[in-house]
Amino acid sequence: MSHPILLTGDRTTGPLHLGHYAGSLRNRLKYQDTHRQFVMLADTQALTDNIGNIGKVRESVLDVAMDYLAVGIDPEKTNICVQSHLPALAELSLLYLNFVSVGRLQRNPTVKEEVRARGFEQSIPAGFLCYPAAQAADITAFRATLVPVGEDQIPMIEQTNEIIRRMNAVVGRPLLEEIEAIVPKTGRLPGVDGASKMSKSAGNAIGLSASPAEISAAVNAMYTDPNHLRVQDPGQVEGNVVFTYLEAFHDDAEEVEALKAHYRRGGLGDVTLKKRLEGILQDFLEPIRDRRARLEQDLDHIRDILRDGTQTARNVTEQTKSEIYDGLGLFRL
Ligand code: TRP
Repeated sequence: MSHPILLTGDRTTGPLHLGHYAGSLRNRLKYQDTHRQFVMLADTQALTDNIGNIGKVRESVLDVAMDYLAVGIDPEKTNICVQSHLPALAELSLLYLNFVSVGRLQRNPTVKEEVRARGFEQSIPAGFLCYPAAQAADITAFRATLVPVGEDQIPMIEQTNEIIRRMNAVVGRPLLEEIEAIVPKTGRLPGVDGASKMSKSAGNAIGLSASPAEISAAVNAMYTDPNHLRVQDPGQVEGNVVFTYLEAFHDDAEEVEALKAHYRRGGLGDVTLKKRLEGILQDFLEPIRDRRARLEQDLDHIRDILRDGTQTARNVTEQTKSEIYDGLGLFRL
């Protein structure tokens, strides 16, 4: 088998945060040295729940691109492209809608959760309901088989594989290979308030370009063990967000274990513990913020990167589209 290809993407709805880093950016950085990787600015998918905010979606394209570069995604190694400028993705999406039922789309657990969170129960935009089929198109158009994503995207991967299997059955041979998610070992990063997911809209996120004061305030507000009232009392590590963040962002696993033991035993106060985490996060985010500030000085350079990346991506996705049209036996002109 040839070397597997990676594709992943982010909806362009605002700058990225630590949840994105722990969920998928870290894996992208790891794989860009060894694999062919495409990273897509998913502005078309962002529209599926932001049709009233097109300005935000448009402006976030450069924002997210700068976040990628600031964390170290290297355009020499990773192709960065813009979804709305890849017509083959839209064409394949339309085709893939024939390999999935409305009922199956409605049962997708992530779609269900998002419908609830957005108050779409009364009326779901059709584009939103169908975005899992579009995401299957994104992935397969690049012939990607590995998809570095957060846990919440696993239902999308399952649904993509169902579409692939159905299509292969129609074609009568394995036209497309099944895909696999690459999810982080640490699991989903909770919000600073302890909610299961970090998100900008919930106000519980730490942005990748957060200022030192914002980082400090977020760590101070972090959810710990509500029953740990006095320093000398034993405290609980499970569900304590400070420890979850230490696990996700501190390289020194031994120190994390020692801090946990100390906290459980009693004698380690929340203030001291939070100071330690704050130092780690400040050190982690400072170079990202600096790089990001430099990138903002030359937006033309960012645009050039996106133009180049999208051109390459267009060639790749058009090629796959032709292979799929031929495989299915569509009319040839
Ligand atoms: N749904 C993803 C998110 O919410 C974004 C996305 C769009 C994506 N297309 C993709 C992720 C293809 C992986 C592969 O962030």
